[in-house]
Amino acid sequence: MVNNQSHQSSSLPLLVATGLCKSFGGIKAVYNANIEVNKGSITGLIGPNGAGKTTLFNLLSNFIRPDKGRVIFDGEPIHHLQPYQIAQQGIVRTFQVPRTLSRLSVLDNMLLAAQKQTGENFWQVQFQPHIVAKEEKQLQEQAMSLLAAVGLAKKARDYAGSLSGGQRKLLEMGRALMTNPKLILLDEPAAGVNPKLIDDICDRIITWNREGMTFLIIEHNMDVIMSLCDRVWVLAEGQNLADGVPAEIQTNAKVLEAYLGK
Ligand SMILES: Nc1ncnc2c1ncn2[C@@H]1O[C@H](COP(=O)(O)OP(=O)(O)OP(=O)(O)O)[C@@H](O)[C@H]1O
Ligand SMILES: [Mg+2]
Repeated sequence: MVNNQSHQSSSLPLLVATGLCKSFGGIKAVYNANIEVNKGSITGLIGPNGAGKTTLFNLLSNFIRPDKGRVIFDGEPIHHLQPYQIAQQGIVRTFQVPRTLSRLSVLDNMLLAAQKQTGENFWQVQFQPHIVAKEEKQLQEQAMSLLAAVGLAKKARDYAGSLSGGQRKLLEMGRALMTNPKLILLDEPAAGVNPKLIDDICDRIITWNREGMTFLIIEHNMDVIMSLCDRVWVLAEGQNLADGVPAEIQTNAKVLEAYLGK
């Protein structure tokens, strides 16, 4: 696995969430949580099982509404927006349990994820079919290039339902990239993926990051977090426990205690 040492992140915040709260019945899944993701960074979000990491992703992308708190993206509040509007602003997320369409081909799953296809405009299809055809060709090329990047090019014509759990995670990542986002939220990209492929994914994330993409990554695989991230946020029992550079987090007594349950 390549270490992300030469990686350059700015200190400009792209996403800032403050005071986020979400309870389910009596459970305070996320309580007064803050997180910042700098432009151009690969930021990590870690914490023990049930710490509230996925709930925090759901709040950032407004899949669920916060009870309290604000989320600012690129200088604008977004916590009042619908999930599709948040996607239009340039935030895309993957799911801990992949949401692929099993009865469609891998390639069609990719193409469906693309935004603003001219082919959706009836009049353009009628009167400018060459533009529509050109755009379709470009999308196909983009999809095939991303599928190659995540090691799924040979599976392009297979049903998505025939993929392994790990391959579905890779397809989700490819689908997310089809929308040309500014920020991509990855929920456990390495879970269930074989170790050789994990190294490839990390290398790809570093390449995409150097091309300008910002990442926020939830992951239990500490090798992945420590090699990729320039800053790591730690949640425990729904609350911020620590944040800092990977080396600080690795030796932070509170973090070790939360993980080891001492
Ligand atoms: N829709 C829901 N309804 C009720 N409780 C929920 C719901 N979603 C999450 N929770 C609870 O909120 C807490 C935080 O869950 P969450 O899935 O955010 O944790 P996590 O940090 O992502 O854990 P993991 O590492 O296991 O994925 C848990 O106690 C969980 O059971
Ligand atoms: Mg989770």
